Amino acid sequence: MIAERPTVLVVDDDRNTRDSLVRGLSRAGYEVLGAEDGSKAIPVLQDREVDLMITDYKMPGIDGLRLATTAQVVRPSVAIIMISAFVNIDTAVSAIKQGVFDVIEKPAKLRDVKKAAARALETRRLVVENRRLRADLEGRDAMARIIGRAPPFHAALTMVEQVAPVKSTVLLTGESGTGKEVFADAIHRLSPRAEKPLVKVHCAALADGLLEAELFGHEKGAFTGAHIARKGRFALADGGTIFLDEIGEIPLTTQVKLLRVLQEGEFQPVGGSETSRVDVRIVAATNVDLETAVADGRFREDLYYRLNVITIEIPPLRQRREDIPLLVQHFIEKYSRITTKHVNGISPGALDRLQGMEWPGNVRELENVVERAIVLATDPLITETELPATEDSRDPTPDSIPFRVGQNLAELERAAILRTLKAVHGDKDAAAKILGIGVATLYRRLKEMGESA
Ligand SMILES: Nc1ncnc2c1ncn2[C@@H]1O[C@H](COP(=O)(O)OP(=O)(O)OP(=O)(O)O)[C@@H](O)[C@H]1O
Ligand SMILES: [Mg+2]
Repeated sequence: MIAERPTVLVVDDDRNTRDSLVRGLSRAGYEVLGAEDGSKAIPVLQDREVDLMITDYKMPGIDGLRLATTAQVVRPSVAIIMISAFVNIDTAVSAIKQGVFDVIEKPAKLRDVKKAAARALETRRLVVENRRLRADLEGRDAMARIIGRAPPFHAALTMVEQVAPVKSTVLLTGESGTGKEVFADAIHRLSPRAEKPLVKVHCAALADGLLEAELFGHEKGAFTGAHIARKGRFALADGGTIFLDEIGEIPLTTQVKLLRVLQEGEFQPVGGSETSRVDVRIVAATNVDLETAVADGRFREDLYYRLNVITIEIPPLRQRREDIPLLVQHFIEKYSRITTKHVNGISPGALDRLQGMEWPGNVRELENVVERAIVLATDPLITETELPATEDSRDPTPDSIPFRVGQNLAELERAAILRTLKAVHGDKDAAAKILGIGVATLYRRLKEMGESA
């Protein structure tokens, strides 16, 4: 942010020029600091929120161009104007290529310097403002793409908004396909780190030794195949967020190192002896119960407590069935756009069936089902024909019938009869016996249900 009263740093080895610029700009309302050369200017840039640096080109020691380069490293947001008695097109072009906003010919008139300063500060304000707006929009966008308003889900979303601005470690728990990665994205996008990298590591996908090198990097020759030194994911995520997916799968030796990063913010690359420090926000996810893993000795208890500072539990889809219509509509829009098929809705019967399913694969499974239905659809409306075969054949435990509050008895009776018949391979006597009804009743029911007896 630019303060109400911008701070300007004037760097010139010529005392007269420097003093007159300092005075003139102070009178124009700026907070003005002076430095007599590059080596004096750098500490000022480090310590003070300098908004604009006006530097001479030719100075003893570091020249204006080199100072400009260094300044942008020390204080990336600083705007720079260069004043030079030796302006030719080449120096001007190379200065501007190196991020200098304007080059003014010496002797510079105060009026010209003030004009250039105002322009540089305004441009910089717009750039900063734009960046902030963009990050803001992306953050809100990330939230808007998360569909669901059932109370347990909404509670989880509210936590995302609450924890995003701080650096605290977040542990996301939830079954496969519930949206842990989607949440991790939103936490990063909504955080002040949004413009820095979000680095994702799938901890289960790498062999034991490799994971450690992947996370912390390695020196050249650290292990067979390590021909060159490589930065690890923690170093790449510096200033940003690291997403450790399937954290429950991290081997114990790596857990020790991870604990150190969490506690101290430091680590050593594999095969190295130098300690690296990083500023990284950790978001971890697991679909296994870490407490059980701790009890089984597979997960360090101290690490678990460090990770478990803020836990966001994402409920499985079957515990938020009221969100299914919203999600279905969302995926219909998404896939009809991608496939350019004009599907815009779903029949009540088909939706009803989706709402009654168990969804062991949660939102991901629902998304796949809708995508498939859209590919198969011949009308603008998805019907039951495009849905996967009935629940019966999908259910991994065919001797149980899923029941949902709000389901009517006739439906359940129908399911009970058809399932039982299937289990006894159509033997009606056996089915009637199991169901506790007479064979005649069974026949009658089948007829009422429109099933050939
Ligand atoms: N609330 C939601 N709104 C919209 N899309 C969602 C939502 N939750 C999940 N999805 C979508 O479902 C899919 C699975 O989500 P995600 O990858 O985040 O799940 P996960 O919990 O990380 O699963 P796993 O444990 O298997 O890695 C993604 O395509 C994601 O875009
Ligand atoms: Mg995931």
